Amino acid sequence: MSTWVVVVAAGRGRRFGAPKQFALLGGRPMVQWALDAARPVADGVVLVLPAAPDAEGSPAPTPVGADVVVAGGDTRAQSVRAGLAAVPDSATVIVVHDGARPLASPALFAAVVGAVCAGADGAVPALAVADTLKRVEGDRITGTVARAGTVAVQTPQAFAAGVLRRAHHAGGEATDDAGLVESLGATVRIVPGDPRNIKVTTAADLEVARALAAT
Ligand code: CTP
Ligand code: MG
Repeated sequence: MSTWVVVVAAGRGRRFGAPKQFALLGGRPMVQWALDAARPVADGVVLVLPAAPDAEGSPAPTPVGADVVVAGGDTRAQSVRAGLAAVPDSATVIVVHDGARPLASPALFAAVVGAVCAGADGAVPALAVADTLKRVEGDRITGTVARAGTVAVQTPQAFAAGVLRRAHHAGGEATDDAGLVESLGATVRIVPGDPRNIKVTTAADLEVARALAAT
């Protein structure tokens, strides 16, 4: 078994207002937290960073602890593919993790990798959905989504290497890798997610992450 982790951190952070993966949390950029949490399960780590300097022209600080650093693409899926291209053929398990999820624990990485080692094509952390979900057209509600049978999923997401490569081969788009793997008809299992493992999307989320990191 050889496990490689791809940390995607090439987004522009439009909703946050800046490339949030470099925002400081407890004195370290968020992406550094993600790299540090990935390290214990990883035989190698590929870090995917923005291709161009940010709007102010300042180069992003390069985090430490990655074996390979590559430039990302215009979409998350393209950035994952750029990372995958740098993962050696010898890797048997590939984990994809968002640089904007600084509070994923090493135990969560171990859990998804463990599920793939136990035979699943893929494994993702999942949490019960607490809110009521509605379908809408514009500002009008057209229906209620039955919450039973739904979960919210996080990263890190682990996959058998061949399955993930096949899922990305056609160049499809999805907001997570499990979405592409599911469309192959492969088996993706869930493991218990971690409520602390929030994705930082807005500036308010960073305040929540800072509060969580302090506990
Ligand atoms: N990501 C990436 N390459 C992209 C887009 C996203 O590597 N072209 C990464 C982000 O850096 C982040 C993760 O994918 O770690 C999840 O994406 P998201 O939260 O949407 O981040 P951004 O795309 O940066 O934010 P926004 O959508 O608000 O612009
Ligand atoms: Mg985005």
